[in-house]
Amino acid sequence: MTKENQVFLPYGRHSIDDEDIAAVERVLKSDWLTTGPKVDNFEQEFAQKVGAKYAVVCSSATTGLHLAALALGLGKGDKVIVPTLTFLATANAVRYVDADVVFCDVDPDTGLMTIETLERAFHSTPGVKAIFPVQLNGQCADMIAVSAFAKLHGLAIVEDACHAIGGTVTTSAGTYSPVGSCAMSDMTVFSLHPVKTITMGEGGVVTTNNENFYKKMKSLRSHGMVRELDTLKNEDLAFNATGDLNPWYYEMQELGFNFRASALQCALGASQLKKLDAFVEKRQELVNLYDKQLASLFPNVRPIARVPYGQPAWHLYVVLIDFEAAGIDRATLMHALHAKGIGTQVHYLPVHLQPYYQGLYGEKELAGANAYYAHCLSLPLFPEMNAPDVEHVVHTLTTMLC
Ligand SMILES: Cc1ncc(COP(=O)(O)O)c(C=O)c1O
Repeated sequence: MTKENQVFLPYGRHSIDDEDIAAVERVLKSDWLTTGPKVDNFEQEFAQKVGAKYAVVCSSATTGLHLAALALGLGKGDKVIVPTLTFLATANAVRYVDADVVFCDVDPDTGLMTIETLERAFHSTPGVKAIFPVQLNGQCADMIAVSAFAKLHGLAIVEDACHAIGGTVTTSAGTYSPVGSCAMSDMTVFSLHPVKTITMGEGGVVTTNNENFYKKMKSLRSHGMVRELDTLKNEDLAFNATGDLNPWYYEMQELGFNFRASALQCALGASQLKKLDAFVEKRQELVNLYDKQLASLFPNVRPIARVPYGQPAWHLYVVLIDFEAAGIDRATLMHALHAKGIGTQVHYLPVHLQPYYQGLYGEKELAGANAYYAHCLSLPLFPEMNAPDVEHVVHTLTTMLC
């Protein structure tokens, strides 16, 4: 950041440049503010970037997760395993379709679902139909093990990769596959909210290699409408006496939603997508600086553990702090850092502790997630930061801990 705007370092922030602004302006001056070619182009570019056959852009990752749950046909009586250390939306998508969440514990050092915690959750209850692994902070879970487990038990996989755009996952062939290529999942969901690595203002994208899921999500995103000739059911309404399709005709075959993203959002998303690699690289450089400079605070402050299941694309820089040994509680530390111009956040309060879920499923003991939650703190990380910003954060943190 430049000296003039170094007033406050939030924990995350979008990076918008003149190209992004020009891309949105071009759409504002065009004939299509929503739907139309910009949306289709962005979907194609996104799918190509992550190596998937199809991408469906929508209004948020929350609606994307909802669409994915609908595409799988999940409903009442079905159960879905969701790691409890995630944002509310991963679990809520399961509830939107009236299925039930089976909260899964996570590794206390990474916050990720492991094969052991997955197995435990699966064997705790009958009726599990799907797994929604969360690629937390920009690291991937062990997808080779998760997908082998899913195959063995006939489960679907929807990856919540809201944190992991631009990263890769290790495949069983020993290669790296881009997150979103769905090499080991049925669908992958991304968020393009402003704190994420690239943004559309608000927005989400679901990728898949399955044509049926793709078509279903496209239709449900827009009221459940279809227009393709071979899918129409009401032929007497659809076609005129000479057998041509009536030009106004569309058909709704199931209950859908308005989960669309506008052409403005897609223009911003497409412009940001071009910078994804540069953003990921810059974030990695900042992470390397943090890792090096925080070493002197070990073991009271330690970065989350690194896993070998792919190449991370860091969305958050999370440290685990032994607050007792450091002589300060988390709220006091966050307030003190804020007073010095440093924003921090806690990602996340485990979802099973939310009153809504406690009311549904009772109290659960998920020790790994509770331990991670008790210690985690996200420090500022966004591409416009520079080395002095990292030094400033680490130095300020150091002065506050004993
Ligand atoms: C892990 C995870 N899942 C889902 C979401 C929901 O994303 P959106 O805000 O785009 O609906 C978020 C956003 O914070 C997230 O971090």
